[in-house]
Amino acid sequence: ATIRYGHFNPALDKFVKRHAEQLNRMPSAFFAVNLTARKPEKRSPQTNAYTRKFLLASPWQPKQCAVFAGALRYPRYRWFDRIMIQFIMRMTGGETDTSKEVEYTDWQQVDRFAQEFSQIQYEK
Ligand SMILES: Cc1cc2nc3c(=O)[nH]c(=O)nc-3n(C[C@H](O)[C@H](O)[C@H](O)COP(=O)(O)O)c2cc1C
Repeated sequence: ATIRYGHFNPALDKFVKRHAEQLNRMPSAFFAVNLTARKPEKRSPQTNAYTRKFLLASPWQPKQCAVFAGALRYPRYRWFDRIMIQFIMRMTGGETDTSKEVEYTDWQQVDRFAQEFSQIQYEK
C-alpha cells in the first residue's frame, strides 16, 4: 500500500479488518511504499512512521513486512499535488524540480523481499 498525504488508502484498513483472522492464519506479507523511505534510515517498519503506526494498530500482523521508497513523478501530477509535493520536498531536502521524474525504489530490496516471502512456511 502507498502513502498519499500521510495516509494509506482507507481500503487497506477495511480489507485488514474484514480478513484479519484469515490473514493471521496464512503466510502473509505487507509492504508500504512512500517517499519518506527515500532516506535509508526511514526505510524499515520500525523507523518508517507510517508503517510503524499501521503495525501497532493492525489486527493483522503480517509475518513479513518491508518499506520501499516510491517514485516522485512531478509531470504526471495535477497542479495541486505538484505544488504540495514540491512544498514537502523543499521542507525535507528532496527534489524540487517539477520537470523531473525520480524513481527511488531499491529494486534489489524488492527482489530480496519476494525471495524471502517465497520461503515463508505455514506454522505447523
Ligand atoms: C498526491 C500524493 C501524495 C503523497 N503524499 C505522501 C506523503 O504524505 N508522504 C510520503 O512519504 N509520500 C507521499 N507520496 C509519495 C507516494 O507514496 C509515492 O509517490 C508512491 O510511489 C505513490 O504510488 P501510487 O501512485 O501507486 O499511490 C505522495 C504521492 C502523491 C502522488
